[in-house]
Amino acid sequence: MTNRILENNKKSWDVVAHHFNGVDALPSYGPFTQTEEELGMFGEITGKKVLDIGCGSGHSLKYMEEHGASELWGIDLSHSQIKEAENTLKGLNPRLFQGAMEEDAGLPKSYFDYVYSIYAIGWTTDLAATFRLIHSYLKDGGTFIFSWDHPLYAHLQTRNGEIHLKGSYQQEGVATFEKFKGEDTQLTLHTRKFATYINELINAGFSIDHVVESQVPAALADIEPEVSDRYYSLYKARKFPTTLIIKATKRQG
Ligand SMILES: C[S@@+](CC[C@H](N)C(=O)[O-])C[C@H]1O[C@@H](n2cnc3c(N)ncnc32)[C@H](O)[C@@H]1O
Repeated sequence: MTNRILENNKKSWDVVAHHFNGVDALPSYGPFTQTEEELGMFGEITGKKVLDIGCGSGHSLKYMEEHGASELWGIDLSHSQIKEAENTLKGLNPRLFQGAMEEDAGLPKSYFDYVYSIYAIGWTTDLAATFRLIHSYLKDGGTFIFSWDHPLYAHLQTRNGEIHLKGSYQQEGVATFEKFKGEDTQLTLHTRKFATYINELINAGFSIDHVVESQVPAALADIEPEVSDRYYSLYKARKFPTTLIIKATKRQG
């Protein structure tokens, strides 16, 4: 691994992994966001070969198995997450790889019906390379679905209930956190604009089928939110989408 951000992030994900056991996993697309049951982004899963990018603790792959997927493949940067996923998927014959999504880990090409990623794609240090690789893993006509923080959401900070713009949405770059989930460990995240996600998908050879800017899920629809200054809150999610979800198809060669 030649990339220092990746090397550092890998060490840190091994430290924070346990905070994400079963968090941000299908049927959830992310915090305060509609579920797969509400959105129906996937078509028929039965008999399909699926690959999870940033598979974390393996709970999304478990959901795929429960819905009849024929093969369960996953890749994650963190060794600890892969261990968790092995535990979650015990007896289900998963093919799990420890590696970076932006590097070729030797996964089969033109093989998968679905490649998907739940709240992991934004961690890539090279979005263009990641989308090109995902494109190569899919069969012609195969589907890629991902969810991630809405690119503007990360710039919205709530102070006493008022929402302010933090930093510059225009300026793409990196944000480094010195603490993550309360742990003293450094993680670096690239910030990107909405258009960058769309344009890199198109550049990689995808056509865009559907874009969702999330709403709060039906289960929370009737709850009156308290004013909150937390990064993720029902209060903030009622006013602005937390999550961006995109469904794209590999264009026929
Ligand atoms: C919020 S968790 C995703 C949870 C997961 N979707 C699930 O079903 O449990 C983000 C994951 O992305 C992984 N990750 C971060 N950077 C990565 C990279 N460059 N390549 C592959 N995985 C990465 C982390 O190790 C972590 O497991």
